[in-house]
Amino acid sequence: MEISFTGIANPHSIGAFGVDANAKILQRYRFIHERLMFISAAQLPARHNWDVKTAMGRHIYEDAEAADQLRTRVSHLRTPLANVGQEPDPALTLLMDEILHAHTDSEWLAGVYTVIKPALIEAYRSHIQRTQQIVDQPTIRILRSILLDLEEQVNWGEAVIAHLKNEGEWEEAGSEELCTLLKRCILAAGGMSNEMKRSSEIPERIRSFQVYQLPKKSQREARMGETTLYRTSMGMKFEKPNEDRLVGMMRVRQEEMTAAELIAAVLWSQKGMPWAFYRDLARHLWDEVRHALFGQAALEAEGLNWRSRPQYTSDYDINIEKIPSAQYAWLSIGIEEGAMKRPGKVGEFEFCRDQVKHPLMTQFQDYDWADEVVHASFGRTWTPELFGEELGFIREVAKHELDHFFSEVRKAEEIAAAEDEI
Ligand SMILES: [Fe+2]
Ligand SMILES: [Fe+2]
Repeated sequence: MEISFTGIANPHSIGAFGVDANAKILQRYRFIHERLMFISAAQLPARHNWDVKTAMGRHIYEDAEAADQLRTRVSHLRTPLANVGQEPDPALTLLMDEILHAHTDSEWLAGVYTVIKPALIEAYRSHIQRTQQIVDQPTIRILRSILLDLEEQVNWGEAVIAHLKNEGEWEEAGSEELCTLLKRCILAAGGMSNEMKRSSEIPERIRSFQVYQLPKKSQREARMGETTLYRTSMGMKFEKPNEDRLVGMMRVRQEEMTAAELIAAVLWSQKGMPWAFYRDLARHLWDEVRHALFGQAALEAEGLNWRSRPQYTSDYDINIEKIPSAQYAWLSIGIEEGAMKRPGKVGEFEFCRDQVKHPLMTQFQDYDWADEVVHASFGRTWTPELFGEELGFIREVAKHELDHFFSEVRKAEEIAAAEDEI
């Protein structure tokens, strides 16, 4: 290992990019990650496969973090912060518009994990090698860390595609058509970094003719059966009342996918907020998906088949008609700030630790509580900006939203009970 130059190899060579050229290329990378964050959020409620949905949650967060680091780096390369959010290239915009309109899980997976992300990996590896190693070390460090995420994401994508093909669940036709178009967009853009000869012929749209509409109902795997607007737990009989509550808690965690989907809807449909708002929502979204994974892990560790139970989708399905600021106030102030009061989140943690003494759920609830403290504070930061009002007013709004929500849940429960009697 080189000990001079802090261990930086090849310090004497001239790099491929001056400041202006570098800033322009990094703007393109920033744009792709930022758009992927928004588009994946828009797609999340429409996708079916559970493992795909959970991975989307994680990748939304990783794309947000990548975009955040690249934004900062671009702003340090003589680019005014005000210009950092711009769209750098119409061919890249078309690329993103078309993947936004993926119709199936297969199209989404093929487009993101066999075309767009592999093209980013190739571009970043080349960028890291060819840039001047001393002057551009801050970029190298950022791209290296993003590469770690991208490589893991693409490996996961390849594995899930192979699995779906094996199971006979892969839809080839649409995926192939979409991928061909996406590749043409990248060629028209001169590659991700615009260093190849770009074509002056911009491909035609094949899917993105209309404004994207979020689904009215969030989707789950068909094999999981009907979704429900009220909670059904695991439908089991228990000897002790504590067991009932413990398994019920695991199941409520697993059902938090619907909270993630509601945040996804806000992330996509609330326009015009500062970048930090969207970055916070991406973290919030992934936290809710992680909470769903806590529940999945806890239930599966007990040998309980949660996939055989009706999937609860109320947070999204009941609130989707509301405007995004009301959706966000309902969750962050109504539910999450509300859970900061005893018994709330601390009560759930103490129940697992002291009453049922369940080590795995104790750990899950410990972190769930920590995450919810963050979400309540995000809510207190952003809802006043969304409403242009003080928190006292927003707590009133959240109260109305909670009343509306729980009356809809009760209605659904009553209808189901009446149907059962017939
Ligand atoms: Fe949660
Ligand atoms: Fe939360």
